Amino acid sequence: MAKEVKNVEYGLEKIFEGAQDFLPLLGTDYVEFYVGNAKQAAHFYKTAFGFQSLAYAGLETGVKDRVSYVLKQDKIRLVLTTPLNSNSPINDHLRKHGDGVKVVALWVEDAKKSFEETVKRGAKPFMEPVVEKDEYGEVVRSGIYTYGETVHMFVERKNYKGAFLPGFKEWKSDYNPTSVGLKFVDHMVGNVGWGEMNQWVKWYEDVMGFVNFLSFDDKQIHTEYSALMSKVMSNGNGRIKFPINEPAEGKKKSQIEEYLDFYEGPGVQHIAVATDNIIKTVTELRARGVEFLSPPPHTYYEEIPARLGVHMDMMKEDLKVIEKLAIMVDADEDGYLLQIFTKPVEDRPTLFFEIIQRMGAKGFGAGNFKALFESIEREQEKRGTL
Ligand code: FE2
Repeated sequence: MAKEVKNVEYGLEKIFEGAQDFLPLLGTDYVEFYVGNAKQAAHFYKTAFGFQSLAYAGLETGVKDRVSYVLKQDKIRLVLTTPLNSNSPINDHLRKHGDGVKVVALWVEDAKKSFEETVKRGAKPFMEPVVEKDEYGEVVRSGIYTYGETVHMFVERKNYKGAFLPGFKEWKSDYNPTSVGLKFVDHMVGNVGWGEMNQWVKWYEDVMGFVNFLSFDDKQIHTEYSALMSKVMSNGNGRIKFPINEPAEGKKKSQIEEYLDFYEGPGVQHIAVATDNIIKTVTELRARGVEFLSPPPHTYYEEIPARLGVHMDMMKEDLKVIEKLAIMVDADEDGYLLQIFTKPVEDRPTLFFEIIQRMGAKGFGAGNFKALFESIEREQEKRGTL
């Protein structure tokens, strides 16, 4: 496992030893979804997940071929984009994948340099650096392909003061549901095909300067029926974490294989968003109709004190409330974490969300994998895809 050392050069909190951090990445800038009906999707993310209206681009702003709604909750920005005619190449993405994540945009100091450095290291270009300007300043963006048809955009916005990007106008809505307390993107997970995990691990190492800081094999991640393998990639300052999953052989079909079947290729499996009060956040999300995976059995909650060990004394949350909300708990050497997973947020069983509260722990809930996957398998069973 990569060791953390201080990162003095960029004034950031830490750096993983072995990571190059030549870009460097400052954080997640936005996540763009291609969806069939952005207007309705925006309503869903506002109503159910507590996002606020931020910016808009479409016919009213002079964009003829697509419409984009930008939503914000604390540091999280979602962009929901729909094509406005059959000629748009976005239709090809929608026909193949259904609604899903097209762009994982990364905030950088220098988008031109980020493009040149990554392409020099083997990235497939998606968009050459472009300077976009309006009355609020300028933004430089560039983009490269990652797994499947998913894209990383590099966004340089140090000379920009507008709501989102040039070309977007501020979106003032009369309908403003309150936040549910989501703060920032903690990690985003990619599912890749059989035998492809290590090739993408190497891609993130070579092209992006990331380091592999946690690995789980199919002996660790399995249930009675199915299995998967996962490696967690991080950039140098630890702000960007991308676990990469691939399916593994089991008695029945792995949830990763189900995803690959329905997304028709590799793509983003889940977006984990952080909260500092998961009880309040999940209570609110449930009241607004967000569907979560079925709860682990009561014995899971009985075993928590033993699993948490020394961290149990630190735990402020009431276990009865945690169980009632079906939140899961795990611990590592640094502390504990609380997490819960939604059902897929579109009709194809593909993308879902994780809500996570870290109380010191830096892991991904490995102790919960079995209970989590058994919940997913109960859903797969209902869909006839296990
Ligand atoms: Fe996760």
